[in-house]
Amino acid sequence: MYQVIARKYRPQTFQQVVNQEHVKQTLINAITQKRIGHGYIFSGPRGTGKTTLARILAKSLNCEKGPTPEPCLECSSCQEITTGSSLDLTEIDAASNRRIDDIRELRENVRYRPVRDRYKVFIIDEAHQITSDAFNALLKTLEEPPEWVVFILCTTEPQQFPATIVSRCQTFPFRTVEVEQVVKHLHWLCQEEKITAENDALVAIALAGDGSIRDSLSTLDQAIASFGNQLKTQPVRDLLGAIPSEILDAITNALTESKPEKMLEVVDQLHREGRHLQNFCGQLVTYFRNLLVMKISGNDTRLVPSGDGDREKLSSHLDHFNQEDLTRYLAISLDLYRDLQHALHPRFRLEVGLLKLVHVGHLTSIEKILTQWNNPPTGMPADATEPPSSVAEHENSSADTSKENATTEHLPSVSIENRHDPNPESTALPTESLETPTDNLHATTDFTLNELQDSLVKIFKDEGDNFTADGLERAEFDYSSNGHLEIRPLRDDIATLQINLKAIEVKARAIGRRNMNVALGAVTDATEMTTTSSANLGAGTATDRSSNQSPSENIQPETEIEKRALSDPEVATFRNTLDGQVRDVRNLRSYS
Ligand SMILES: Nc1ncnc2c1ncn2[C@@H]1O[C@H](COP(=O)(O)OP(=O)(O)OP(=O)(O)O)[C@@H](O)[C@H]1O
Ligand SMILES: [Mg+2]
Ligand SMILES: [Zn+2]
Repeated sequence: MYQVIARKYRPQTFQQVVNQEHVKQTLINAITQKRIGHGYIFSGPRGTGKTTLARILAKSLNCEKGPTPEPCLECSSCQEITTGSSLDLTEIDAASNRRIDDIRELRENVRYRPVRDRYKVFIIDEAHQITSDAFNALLKTLEEPPEWVVFILCTTEPQQFPATIVSRCQTFPFRTVEVEQVVKHLHWLCQEEKITAENDALVAIALAGDGSIRDSLSTLDQAIASFGNQLKTQPVRDLLGAIPSEILDAITNALTESKPEKMLEVVDQLHREGRHLQNFCGQLVTYFRNLLVMKISGNDTRLVPSGDGDREKLSSHLDHFNQEDLTRYLAISLDLYRDLQHALHPRFRLEVGLLKLVHVGHLTSIEKILTQWNNPPTGMPADATEPPSSVAEHENSSADTSKENATTEHLPSVSIENRHDPNPESTALPTESLETPTDNLHATTDFTLNELQDSLVKIFKDEGDNFTADGLERAEFDYSSNGHLEIRPLRDDIATLQINLKAIEVKARAIGRRNMNVALGAVTDATEMTTTSSANLGAGTATDRSSNQSPSENIQPETEIEKRALSDPEVATFRNTLDGQVRDVRNLRSYS
């Protein structure tokens, strides 16, 4: 009769057990020194050899030639244990014998000497399922058992054991088995079974087992059932539902070329092929994780378990990304994986998630902003590139007299506000009088951002595309001096705006009469839009003047000190890089 590989190849000796060296060695020592404990806990992940080693221990103890760490496997005791008919080895499945009556029966049984062998061995599988009453009934027996009794409690959930039980036993934690070791074991098995298998096919099978040998062996059985004695990489990967490499290529291209439309095609393909979307996303998470780890630890790192083909592929993708990108991609895909669990429309959720991956590629990192902050871009007004301390000196050297001199020792402070415009009427662009670089929308055309937004909304409305019009109306617009128009949509509008991005760009260029690039920026949400974050370089509270002012308007510098404060290089850089708004200039000394 056919026997599944996992059972047919259950190791019979310590040497045959893969991994778990620490457990094997300690048990071998105990047997050799005849220091046999009465209670053992074998804990660890499923399919890693707990029951197997428990049986090998039983054999070692009861072998006619023993106790020996090398049981003969031939005597009647060894053979009966292998076939499961030994009277002195009792295996109990605690999942179905967990109640106090079962344990009482067990206690009864413990009192009698072994029928034939040296020890009476009790292997209790899934022992964490024993009820607490039943555990209590076992305490006494575990504490002072008859000399011939050995208990081996196997469990995947050792934390569920009462401390009283744990303290009466020796605990052996089993480990998951590394992919290379599983692959080696699979190669050996294939040889025994006369199966030719490509290495990467076995790597895929080992990876699917996730550290459990039994799981890998079950998958191997399945692969053999499907493909006979020839295991090739691609069919095996397909059987396991692995993402085809051309999909990973397409995703990589969509990201590197900033082509959201390619992402939508990927989702369409997955949908047509009937793939499980969350499963796909799980593999995407692994993909980004592996890329990130290779980026950090090098291409050959053992922290990325993969076949040669996969590793080559990953290496070839690696150059396209930097560490920050990959960290962001990983975080987003993890969120996506979690959300897909309960998503009502998994396909749409996946689309939004993958589009988001493309968009975050556009985000400027805080590190970059800080670098710019420290090294103001060239092309700033000459005096604005002086170091900040020059403000006071500049004032001292100023030829201006009497009235000004009264304020010269006072360093001005500036309160600057990041522009999130809560007031649709106001024009959010800095004005030329504030000495910003002149390459801004306002300076070269007569349009303000709000007018541009309104015009776009109107055009799309007129064309009957109310979705895009509404999305544009709800979005935040932001224009940077290098000809980049960023539209930050509400979460719900991303897909619509993304699809029409090209059309929006064409229209925006026509309205603004200039060559601008349009891209979607980070998602905003309604609450974000009404908050204003302010970076206050000075101290104290707002003055009357600023509280009377519309919160997003730049002040018009009136006094000399305001002009100087506004031309301060740090202020200029801040406004330039973060699109800051200056609302108020205060003299710090006059507050003290
Ligand atoms: N360390 C290992 N070395 C070799 N084969 C192993 C190993 N672990 C598991 N196997 C294979 O998996 C099968 C099941 O192993 P075993 O019953 O020992 O797992 P387990 O740890 O008791 O799992 P569970 O927690 O699910 O009961 C074995 O018959 C054997 O073929
Ligand atoms: Mg078991
Ligand atoms: Zn024997």
